[in-house]
Amino acid sequence: MDSIETDLSGRVVSFLSTCIGCAHCGSYCPSNCYDLPGIKHSDSVDTRKLQDLYENRRSVRSFSEKEIDESVISSLLEPVGFSPTGRNAQGITVDVILGYESVEKLLFRPLVKLVRVLDSFRLLSLFAGKARGAVKKIRNGEDIITWKAPCVLLFRAPRKNVTGSMDAVIAATMVSIKAEAMGLGCFWNGVVQMAAPVLPISKPNAVLCIGYPAFKKHQHVPAREWTRRDISQIV
Ligand SMILES: Cc1cc2nc3c(=O)[nH]c(=O)nc-3n(C[C@H](O)[C@H](O)[C@H](O)COP(=O)(O)O)c2cc1C
Repeated sequence: MDSIETDLSGRVVSFLSTCIGCAHCGSYCPSNCYDLPGIKHSDSVDTRKLQDLYENRRSVRSFSEKEIDESVISSLLEPVGFSPTGRNAQGITVDVILGYESVEKLLFRPLVKLVRVLDSFRLLSLFAGKARGAVKKIRNGEDIITWKAPCVLLFRAPRKNVTGSMDAVIAATMVSIKAEAMGLGCFWNGVVQMAAPVLPISKPNAVLCIGYPAFKKHQHVPAREWTRRDISQIV
């Protein structure tokens, strides 16, 4: 942000109002002039184990009935405090819905009601194409929206954050990987995110449904198709 003003000898003379409070000046000061205590370095992070975590991650939609302790949720959400935000705008909010009873009341039941109204003359089913079966299930009260998750996390960033939706998705991604490391499972819920305007929740930028997996995985995720292009020579 070009917020550090120095004199000709390079000595810091003032901080300008463009400072975004990222504290890099202190963290990376070559002479540690802020006298900050050293952080514990992450020598303990085993890159192979980290990669295993990414590879083992799969969406979980069958949750055991085991409840999630409050202390587990606190630990799960710790990465949010270390998640980057554009221009260091910060301000991420995570709304926590804990217990399936509340998940059902806040998210699933209103959607069942809506689908039943919209489909009262089977019109929705008629035009739903491949989703016809899903509409029927929801009408019948089968929760294929939250899959009876015992916890739902709604991530949002203030609208004024220039990179708000990205900020929230990055935080949610960090949490989703920690969930895997903690023996929890989750899936991203685009349906709840899109349906938010008709639900009694604040519009989130990302939604994770979380719980203990009911079943053990037999197979890790096959590598997905993606593209790497070396564009360094394109000038
Ligand atoms: C942004 C986003 C939204 C998603 N929305 C839903 C959803 O509403 N319901 C659902 O069951 N799965 C949802 N998923 C999960 C994907 O279907 C899943 O990631 C994909 O099938 C690949 O499976 P995997 O996560 O096990 O690798 C969503 C995933 C992403 C990234």
